[in-house]
Amino acid sequence: MTEQDVNLSKEFVDKISPKSIYKKNKINGVKKIIAIASGKGGVGKSTIAVNIAIALKNLNYKVGILDADIYGPSIPKMLGISEKPKSEDGKTLIPITKFGLQCMSIGFLVSEDTPMIWRGPMVSSTIKTFTNNVAWKDLDYLIIDLPPGTGDALLTFAQEIDIDGAVIITTPQEIATLDVTRGIKMFEKTNVKVIGIIENMKSFISDDGKEHFIFGKDGGQKIAKQFNVDLLGQIPIDIRLREQSDNGEPFMEVKKDNKTSLIINEIAEKIVKKIS
Ligand SMILES: Nc1ncnc2c1ncn2[C@@H]1O[C@H](COP(=O)(O)OP(=O)(O)OP(=O)(O)O)[C@@H](O)[C@H]1O
Ligand SMILES: [Mg+2]
Repeated sequence: MTEQDVNLSKEFVDKISPKSIYKKNKINGVKKIIAIASGKGGVGKSTIAVNIAIALKNLNYKVGILDADIYGPSIPKMLGISEKPKSEDGKTLIPITKFGLQCMSIGFLVSEDTPMIWRGPMVSSTIKTFTNNVAWKDLDYLIIDLPPGTGDALLTFAQEIDIDGAVIITTPQEIATLDVTRGIKMFEKTNVKVIGIIENMKSFISDDGKEHFIFGKDGGQKIAKQFNVDLLGQIPIDIRLREQSDNGEPFMEVKKDNKTSLIINEIAEKIVKKIS
């Protein structure tokens, strides 16, 4: 596949430095960094990031979540966090612990009225804060909810943070998968390993047991095959996922042993295997 096929513009590709030039940063206090990404907005990245984080915690790992979505941080709301992180020494931020997860959000650092056009350029300095000045404590996994799109913000994260594996979220329909293709290409270009695809909003099962493929079919499988990566799982449309996010209490924390939670658990176990 060529760059043209996935519409990565030449200008964009030129911005990606050869991997020998840039130096990727580890994050203090973190063993493995997993990025959740997608070329497209609104496909369920944040919902999945939160629920995979809880699933990993339930597997007895120490887990943190970093909301890096500069354009619309949503993790604090999904975890019901309203306070801001504190600092004891005036330099290091202490993540907020909720549901056993250590949480930091770009939303804590960027004021809500910061204009959109200023946000992109702030990414680099914010990454420095995240990599050097957050007191993550003994994390086995840090899940990063990356910004949507394949713009400069995402590129900066992929180039500057030493990500152990990226998990790509897509919905089944064609248009989403095209955007996702762009996202995968960008990770390949920046030498980030894509460990698998998750297809979200696979179908809706109505009360009569019928399965409705509201957003089309098989997009996740197609993408996985095209790039020779695993399809880690397919998550159905489940109203409880949205309700729990809106309530600030993650689905995996409160609704256990149902079909959807089993699927999310299985995905978390696969991620552990792939990343170790
Ligand atoms: N499997 C699902 N079933 C039902 N609702 C879902 C599912 N996945 C996500 N949602 C809902 O869809 C909406 C978008 O999800 P979410 O905010 O996680 O997407 P996102 O990719 O992070 O979006 P953005 O690009 O804006 O950051 C939310 O209201 C969420 O609750
Ligand atoms: Mg989001």
